[in-house]
Amino acid sequence: MFDYRRATRESAAEFAATAELEQLDVSNHFLFQRDAHWPLFERLRREAPVNFHPESRYGPYWSITSHRAIKEIEADHHRFSSEPNIGIGDAGGAESSSFISMDSPKHDTQRATVSPVVAPSNLANLETLIRTRVEDILDNLPVGEEFNWVERVSIELTTRMLATLFDFPFEERSKLTRWSDIGIMGPKSGYVSTWEEGREELQQCLAYFKALYKERLEADHEGFDLLSLLARNPETRDMPDTEFLGNLMLLIVGGNDTTRNSISGGVLALNQFPDQYEKLRGNLSLIPNMVAEIIRWQTPLAHMRRTASEDVEFHGQKIRKGDKVVMWYVSGNRDDSVFENPDKLMIDRKNARQHVSFGFGIHRCMGNRLAEMQLRVLWEEISQRFRHVEVVGEPERVTSNFVKGYSRLPVVLHPLS
Ligand code: HEM
Repeated sequence: MFDYRRATRESAAEFAATAELEQLDVSNHFLFQRDAHWPLFERLRREAPVNFHPESRYGPYWSITSHRAIKEIEADHHRFSSEPNIGIGDAGGAESSSFISMDSPKHDTQRATVSPVVAPSNLANLETLIRTRVEDILDNLPVGEEFNWVERVSIELTTRMLATLFDFPFEERSKLTRWSDIGIMGPKSGYVSTWEEGREELQQCLAYFKALYKERLEADHEGFDLLSLLARNPETRDMPDTEFLGNLMLLIVGGNDTTRNSISGGVLALNQFPDQYEKLRGNLSLIPNMVAEIIRWQTPLAHMRRTASEDVEFHGQKIRKGDKVVMWYVSGNRDDSVFENPDKLMIDRKNARQHVSFGFGIHRCMGNRLAEMQLRVLWEEISQRFRHVEVVGEPERVTSNFVKGYSRLPVVLHPLS
């Protein structure tokens, strides 16, 4: 038996080379924490891009690992449903439902109502505010001494941005991070000891937001924050509690871990590929393309899942009605039939935008432009201040097969001159 808990890149490579295909359980979360998942995905992509795994802690599931097959599943949303859940596991903290785990037509209506919050005109309004927040954070960082980038920059910045999006009381903003962590990790968040406690706490989240919402309704609020948009629209004004909470959680979680880990991942990637950091210093106009490339390289969400709503013949395999089908974005983004030298960060990569980190099709990430804007502004401002954000120790990675990211990244800042 392969010891996933102690896997290294080397032991995983040996296991991947010798095991039967069905033995490769890429859903094991220790693989991600130990950054040892790569050789398993490589073998699956090469030999079995649509592969059945009969046994895992989540039960049997299909792994989809090539770029092409992932897009095909996403495009076929009638036969590959997002209900009941888009994570490989079925457990969950909140008694809630949100449009990411709904099918058409309900999905389409709900998405259409909340999407104005990320419309280009609204993003232009948000950019100035976001830049001010970025400047404030960067100007208050210690220069020349070690600190944890995840905590001081990635978490702080995403939390402030979320508060902006909801027009949430600024001094209470740490509640947003807390609720996001509880919603996604339950007891593992360290805030609560059981899922039950987590559910109770999310009821407090619901109550807090309902009070804010009521204020916005009564004030006939003109704002473009998310709550005002929901309150103004007759389609969403009287949403049932579970849906209201579900959509809130979707926006809190959707915009939190993902952006947070792209911020940390970018710093790590530029340190692993110093020639690319040098290229950036010489040409700041590469920042927008670099942002797409960082999102490809990092792949902040490792997978999304679908469930077959009928028997389907797919790439020569028989997927049965009810089977779990897991699209591993983390693998699709390293597919060398699409991306040349895929493990390398190349900030001027021509087709960086073809990555699948935002998914594809009707569920393609609603916040993708907002996320890109946040990262662009951040790197513009970093480049104005620091010559090098130097990684000075090993990163600590999150133990999850869903959120692909970091809990610690020790860095030292070097000023421009
Ligand atoms: C780099 C940052 C981000 C990444 C990598 C990311 C990734 C994803 C992915 C993979 C999906 C599912 C796509 C699919 O099933 O095809 C998704 C959906 C979604 N994301 Fe993001 N996301 C990011 C940032 C954000 C932000 C900032 C927001 C906040 C506005 C957001 C809101 C959403 C929403 C509402 C959905 C559901 C869309 C639907 O089901 O129609 N995301 N995201």
